[in-house]
Amino acid sequence: MPEAKIEAWLEEDREFTPSAAFSAQANAQPSIYEEAGADPVAWWREQADRLTWTTTPTKSLEWDLPNAKWFADGTLNASVSCVDVHVSEGRGGRVAFHWVADAEGESRTITYHELHRQVCRTANALIELGVTKGDRIAVYMPMIPEAIFAMLAIVRLGAIHSVVFGGFSAEALGSRILDSNCRFVVTADGAFRRGTASPLKAAVDEALKSCPNVSAVLVVKRTESDVEWVPGRDHWWHDIVERQSDVHEPEAFPAETPLFIMYTSGTTAKPKGIFHTTAGYLTQAATTYYNVFDVKPETDVCWTAADIGWITGHSYIVYGPLINGVTQILYEGLPDSGGRDRWWKIISGYKATILYTAPTTIRTLMKWGHQIPEEYDLTSLRLLGTVGEPINPEAWMWYRKNIGGDRCPIVDTWWQTETGAILCSPLPGVTSTKPGAAMRALPGISTAVVDDAGNPVGHGEGGYLVVTQPWPAMIRGIWGDPDRFFDTYWSRFPGKYFAGDGAKLDAEGDLWLLGRVDDVMNISGHRLSTTEVEHALVGHRAVAEAAVVGASDETTGQAIVAFVTLKLSAEDAEKDHAALIEELRAHVASTISPIAKPREIILTPDLPKTRSGKIMRRLLRDVAENRSLGDVTTLTDPTVVNMITGLMDTHASSDD
Ligand code: WT7
Repeated sequence: MPEAKIEAWLEEDREFTPSAAFSAQANAQPSIYEEAGADPVAWWREQADRLTWTTTPTKSLEWDLPNAKWFADGTLNASVSCVDVHVSEGRGGRVAFHWVADAEGESRTITYHELHRQVCRTANALIELGVTKGDRIAVYMPMIPEAIFAMLAIVRLGAIHSVVFGGFSAEALGSRILDSNCRFVVTADGAFRRGTASPLKAAVDEALKSCPNVSAVLVVKRTESDVEWVPGRDHWWHDIVERQSDVHEPEAFPAETPLFIMYTSGTTAKPKGIFHTTAGYLTQAATTYYNVFDVKPETDVCWTAADIGWITGHSYIVYGPLINGVTQILYEGLPDSGGRDRWWKIISGYKATILYTAPTTIRTLMKWGHQIPEEYDLTSLRLLGTVGEPINPEAWMWYRKNIGGDRCPIVDTWWQTETGAILCSPLPGVTSTKPGAAMRALPGISTAVVDDAGNPVGHGEGGYLVVTQPWPAMIRGIWGDPDRFFDTYWSRFPGKYFAGDGAKLDAEGDLWLLGRVDDVMNISGHRLSTTEVEHALVGHRAVAEAAVVGASDETTGQAIVAFVTLKLSAEDAEKDHAALIEELRAHVASTISPIAKPREIILTPDLPKTRSGKIMRRLLRDVAENRSLGDVTTLTDPTVVNMITGLMDTHASSDD
């Protein structure tokens, strides 16, 4: 959100204080900040009692920057804290998931008891396929219960899941499988989107052509599409999992055992394998879920409308909610599968109480009109959350009024794949909320906004968001690349974790996020690097050079705009430019993912560069956002800018 807009909004001085009724029942009480602040490490150690330990830890934090160990001498099994404990303590009959299919009318109810049986069966099947402790297993799945059975079964064996979002291309999947040397893949024949089946297994087959170390592929039959089959390597889920025993004795592993890897975009073309370990991550996922979402496991019906292919799904569909033993909605489809009222049908049908989604989705729902949710009874909702990008105040207010009935607190939660769990957010019932502000660091977390020199800024000033103390769910490293881990996060401001986000403190010291300060773009809450998209573009035979920027976009937050120069081969010079642009957009979609498809591609004879040959992205962003251009005197050829601006004016943007 542009800073000027925030300024204007701050002047309106809107603030919502918690209602007395909510506060009286809230999980978090105002004293929590002081309790945690007095001795954060000791406080986190108390929170670790939310987990089911085999050996109770006596150690809390060992910190040797950038390496943290939390609760290191404890042992546990992650899946026991998520599943077994609920069964053994008599809660097995509670619904863990109301699974709602893409197609209306298809659903499944999975109790904790059933979840336990399924996780055990899946674990036994994985053992039969040869999975052992420490193996990496790629999970490339639609939003079906088997995806969660697989994740929990993998960690139950001390193996490490690397869930790859089902929207990623075969090439993106393959490079992730190779990077962490996965030996197994769990997938499905296909996925349903608005009733249409799209293939997943075919992408796995394609990816595995370059991954010789994968020995087994476990395939769920979901869409009944035809698939190719490699005998000996490929196994149907229904053949192998369903005949297994539903008893599996869990082994206890040390607290710092790697739990999962999640790839995310950094500032280079190569995605980073962020890895998290067991007990610290689980402790913070469970604690934040309890305090920020105020969950009451006996009565709430929670819906985190995210995909398990992203960190939000890991922390707030799988680990945080399951440790708390809540009932959730797990939805396979898109917001408009079956019609634009689908979400409201689901919420009113299951009497959902808590909804957590991304600003980009809120803006889409907003575009479809308030008349649609108005038709439904949404009074079961009592808390709303957002995550993924700065939320513009208009969307926040729309969400509060039209979905939350002006009664539900909104938690704007700031965090990252790397932080593992929420770090900054209001606490419902405790702190007030402001439309567009993440407000402050949670109990036990220390953040600051600092200037270029690393000094904290005053109220009313902007700078960079940093985390000043280690936290339990923090990234433990980039898979296979310790140097990159240090350089990316710990070298910019010595002693502090650099998040890569710009932020501002308002006059009261409350926190407003301003978006990334590096070459990372945020497209509909999905993280992509400019270089990653440039890399894909120059991989096309017609492209000589490409420069990509994230330009602000009303619906998707940012959208990709690419400036491309062409190689002058006879074939492409003759091609109709509109057709070539479409070809390039499709090329990026198939190389990375449809989410990475540029909104616009501008073919230009040249790119603006500094005298030292660096592409001037800031300037291109100004061009893409139709802003007046700042200082261009360092350009080698200032006329290039005028030319590009001219091209932009005549270029009609496409609409998908
Ligand atoms: C980046 C992390 C955390 C799960 C989803 C995204 C942006 C995230 C907010 C928020 C403003 C936000 C930041 C961050 N971001 N939440 N509430 N307000 N910006 O995880 O893909 O790792 O992306 O998303 O820029 O650095 P991710």
